[in-house]
Amino acid sequence: MVSIGILGGGGFLGSHLLAALLSRGDFQVEAVDTTFVKVATSHPQLVLTQGSIDEPGLLAGVVARNQIVVSTTALCNPSLYNTQPAEVIHANFTHLVPLVELCVREQKRLIHFSTCEVYGKTLPAAGLNEDLSPFLLGPVAKERWSYACAKQLLERLLWAHGQHGDLNFTIVRPFNVIGPRMDFIPGIDGEGIPRVLACFMRALLFGEALPLVDGGRQRRSFIYVDDFTEAVLRVIEREAACRGQIINIGNPHNNTRIDELASRLSAVFASGKDVPVRRVEVSAEEFYGAGYDDVVERIPDIDKARSLLNWEPHTSLEQMLAPIVDDYRARYQPQAAGEQ
Ligand code: UGA
Repeated sequence: MVSIGILGGGGFLGSHLLAALLSRGDFQVEAVDTTFVKVATSHPQLVLTQGSIDEPGLLAGVVARNQIVVSTTALCNPSLYNTQPAEVIHANFTHLVPLVELCVREQKRLIHFSTCEVYGKTLPAAGLNEDLSPFLLGPVAKERWSYACAKQLLERLLWAHGQHGDLNFTIVRPFNVIGPRMDFIPGIDGEGIPRVLACFMRALLFGEALPLVDGGRQRRSFIYVDDFTEAVLRVIEREAACRGQIINIGNPHNNTRIDELASRLSAVFASGKDVPVRRVEVSAEEFYGAGYDDVVERIPDIDKARSLLNWEPHTSLEQMLAPIVDDYRARYQPQAAGEQ
């Protein structure tokens, strides 16, 4: 039985990963988080540790108890990057430095979830490659890049210990993973601005127009959470092949304009009824405030994931939207109806 600690095990990606690990049967899982509302499972091979990763002693205990640590914790909503940049830098870098040091000292395997945001202001239509693509971040005053910069520095720290010491690490770069249980609905189970999927679902549940930032011309390559989780399971299982590697996990076939996502999601929400799509254009400055910046298009090169993991993402945008809408409806429709 392999013991595995998931930092952020109560979050969107962490909760899906722990369910998949438990269904395999050969993992003892310790999930660490401040809340577990997204964890539906109780299981004899699952232990929940409640706490924040910056609490004294917490990381040391998790690293000591487990053979593998998967770190998924992050402040990862773009609306925070220019409104709470110091907290974003600490959550995504400072608070994780002790984890890296502990894994070096205790000789534990570390699988770290980084981000496609490290690629920065990408050139449209260019597939982003882990080992070849340069990073281009905006100026310091464009605080959007506080997150990417913090994530990039942590990657460089892991790399340094892997190349010049003997840290057994793998870096995963998720590309816009979406699925059930993602983020929160403002006014119901959180405050602020979540990522685009939850923003659109909130508007649909409350019967409001879907906000299109700068007209919704930006593109994202969305990957379904089940495809993403399957890739991470294979990273866990293929230790030798993945050691010291940085691996994009995304779906280049689902490269979609944000206004198109709005239309498709609205159609699925209307369940085939001929309801007009309600959208409203909003400037980035109005929506996110000063210091925001955007990415025009972000397409992953997944050749490395294909060859190391013998993996392929299978779920099209069309296939993933119905289960996502069903999940948000089940979790939020009653409260949304009550708020109106
Ligand atoms: C996200 C976050 O930075 C990270 O969580 C993560 O690393 C990465 O990308 C990811 O999800 O893998 P971004 O793709 O910009 O960044 O996040 P979203 O908030 O989902 O925005 C996507 C696009 O939709 C942006 O162009 C944004 O301006 C737009 N948007 C967002 C709207 O048009 N309307 C909205 O209501 C919200």
